[in-house]
Amino acid sequence: MSDFVSRLRSIVGDKGLITDEQGKHPFLTDWRENYLGRALAIVRPANTQEVSEVVKLCAAEGVAVVPQGGNTGMSGGATPQEDGREIVLSLTRMNRILDIDKVGYTMTVEAGVVLKTIQEAAADADRLFPLSLGAEGSCTIGGNLSTNAGGVQVLHYGNARQLVLGLEVVQPNGDIWNGLRALKKDNTGYDLRDLYLGAEGTLGIITRAVLKLSPKPRDNATSWSAVPSPQAAVELLSGAYAASEDNVTSCELMGRQGIDLVLQHIPGTTDPLAEKHDWYVLMEWSSTRPASVGDNAAGLRDKMEAYLGEAMEKGLVLDAVIAQTEAQSKALWALRENHTEASKQEGPSIKHDISVAVSKIPPFVPEGVAAMNKALPGCRPLVFGHVGDGNLHFNCQAPAGWTKPQFAPYIEPISSAIYDLVTAYGGSISAEHGIGRIKVEELAHYRSRTELDVMRQLKRALDPHNIMNPGKVIRV
Ligand code: FAD
Ligand code: MLT
Ligand code: ZN
Repeated sequence: MSDFVSRLRSIVGDKGLITDEQGKHPFLTDWRENYLGRALAIVRPANTQEVSEVVKLCAAEGVAVVPQGGNTGMSGGATPQEDGREIVLSLTRMNRILDIDKVGYTMTVEAGVVLKTIQEAAADADRLFPLSLGAEGSCTIGGNLSTNAGGVQVLHYGNARQLVLGLEVVQPNGDIWNGLRALKKDNTGYDLRDLYLGAEGTLGIITRAVLKLSPKPRDNATSWSAVPSPQAAVELLSGAYAASEDNVTSCELMGRQGIDLVLQHIPGTTDPLAEKHDWYVLMEWSSTRPASVGDNAAGLRDKMEAYLGEAMEKGLVLDAVIAQTEAQSKALWALRENHTEASKQEGPSIKHDISVAVSKIPPFVPEGVAAMNKALPGCRPLVFGHVGDGNLHFNCQAPAGWTKPQFAPYIEPISSAIYDLVTAYGGSISAEHGIGRIKVEELAHYRSRTELDVMRQLKRALDPHNIMNPGKVIRV
């Protein structure tokens, strides 16, 4: 193997190779610290050609490759297996923005560019890249595309899949597929691009992408409303589409338990309302039409205030605040975006990243909470997320003070109860975080035989020697 490592070194140089145990460690465990793998080396190529040569060498030697971006994934997809026979291929040195086409509303980037850098570059060019999620300061666009990430603006702009026009992908045999086309329309045979989006690195390595930009909003409004129930939340959203003139860009639901954890663990956060309530909705409206122009003198903030006032009269809203400044808006968003971090600090939890039809959220929530409590009396349901997409993080926080080993026996019964319920509701067991390693058995259980057969056939056809992130998503 020392010969293999020296051949890797001859491709990527000293700068592109990490072989010492201390240096490797951050690449060998996932954000949630559920897995700790081993690897022959961490390989950090500087460009697509080097990725291709590394993969060709690995294919020839039968060494499996685990692609990794910012390593913020929730499903263990970027962590190598424990046998130490794989390499981790980190894209983080490939972090250049290659082109911004303002007229065509596109940006071409390398896979290792951090999402926030892309958002900022788009804003500097007076454009918007709308993908937005709590990990945006460290996740990479390659990881976002490979997990088909969602986040907080999906209801208006779509998932990562809807935000990309073209890809460049290194195949499991090392060949480079150049599909970097900035085309909105292209019906030339099977859509290869869509295969790699959401494939979690099991079919190839995304090395570059052409992203779709949007016009930058000129007016926006953020509100924080206490609502009596999830039913009120979906009704509030339903009416908001028309009241905002179709400008709802985010709608997030949170239960009180999550707010308490954020206030407890995240310094600088404060409760915006005087009294405690069971449920909250964070809503953002934004528009490319500036306030105070022509007949739009009221602007979104005034329209939102009028709408929330009506909603209060109908009993859909119990109390509310509207941010008056950007700093206030950021403070409201901090309460939402810090749920994941606060939950991690509190102790062990199970994540159920589920979706059902939006109109099914109201009956699903109490049934799901009851199912969790039945499986483990005293557990703490932590329900929050992208209600406008029907996607809730129906998480379960272990009872206070519990350790991971203490909680472990309850994971399977709690998750089965939730996933059986989701399936009965016609929903999905993984709305945005993907399957990775953590849900391989669940995918096999909840997807139909036909779907699994087609997925397996695809995997075998594109990666016949199973070297691309083996053991993730689907077993072959
Ligand atoms: P990694 O974790 O490095 O990898 C994820 C998967 O993609 C792995 O299977 C890996 O092998 C593969 N991969 C990575 N790069 C490539 C590549 N270039 N080519 C091929 N395969 C590759 N996710 C959401 O969808 N919505 C959210 O709202 C959200 N909020 C989050 C909040 C927090 C605080 C955190 C920590 C995570 C959150 N996530 C969310 C999960 C995570 O941030 C996303 O899944 C993100 O897209 C992962 O990007 P990454 O670069 O960190 O990928
Ligand atoms: C989020 O939306 O904040 C994350 O996807 C949720 C989670 O960590 O469960
Ligand atoms: Zn989410």
